[in-house]
Amino acid sequence: MSAATTRTDVGAVDDFAEGSITALEVGGVEVVLIRQDGIFYALPDRCTHARYPLNDGELLPGKIKCAHHGATYDLATGRPGLPAVKKIQLYQAFEVDGRVLVEVQEA
Ligand code: FES
Repeated sequence: MSAATTRTDVGAVDDFAEGSITALEVGGVEVVLIRQDGIFYALPDRCTHARYPLNDGELLPGKIKCAHHGATYDLATGRPGLPAVKKIQLYQAFEVDGRVLVEVQEA
């Protein structure tokens, strides 16, 4: 079976403030969209540690920190910091003509 990819326009760039974490649903997948230093990142809204949401987490430079037990994830690589040991999947988020597009893959 091949993975299905869904690309969705989630809004205008200006809809997402610098330093924001926004919970979205994209193609039936719960996603957090992050804007940091003018760059957009999209991740599953689900910590790999104990499966709590990440949308109430805290942004650190280059990372998101889960509010529940403090796991961190590198926004560029998905690399986890304890207590999470499993890398988080990264989705594609990019700007086209002032819009933000998010691409998610479902198995
Ligand atoms: S659920 Fe995120 S650190 Fe435990």
